[in-house]
Amino acid sequence: MARSTWRLLLSLLLAGCAAGPPQGNLYRDLGGEPGIAAIVDGVIVKIQADEDVQELFEETDFDFFGEKLRLQLCEVADGPCVYDGLDMQSAHLSMDISEAEFNNFVQDLIDVLDGLGVPLPVQNRLLARLTPMRREIIYQ
Ligand code: HEM
Repeated sequence: MARSTWRLLLSLLLAGCAAGPPQGNLYRDLGGEPGIAAIVDGVIVKIQADEDVQELFEETDFDFFGEKLRLQLCEVADGPCVYDGLDMQSAHLSMDISEAEFNNFVQDLIDVLDGLGVPLPVQNRLLARLTPMRREIIYQ
């Protein structure tokens, strides 16, 4: 094998090490369609039990909301879905959601993921994709 080919192989190997352990597809790591459905069901149970947000969700059709959230999480996790709901800013317009309410939502999600036994590194990968949405959601 030519010296340049060895050098290329070595640099690819080193780049792989620098990137840490290989990560699979997040959708698959979350348990695919049934895994995401369980996460969304868990989040809805949390929302319905949370008196602080009950007013916001007073007129919500939870079947519709659940379907949109399923599609969104699936797409965000690189699953085979296309989210067809509102963009995050429009979806939360005029709700004036505070930072604390946003953090509360994220904590609810973490509790659900814990309850489902989703490994911490997988949880972190999902949260890293959702938390940047914060700026489109709070104080709209
Ligand atoms: C990363 C965090 C969040 C994500 C990914 C998210 C996602 C979504 C999605 C996909 C929808 C449906 C959009 C549509 O109708 O097309 C929605 C609607 C809504 N979200 Fe969020 N959301 C987040 C945070 C929050 C927070 C923190 C609150 C309030 C505390 C909230 C309250 C609502 C409400 C009230 C609706 C409207 C429900 C209805 O149609 O009646 N969301 N959200």
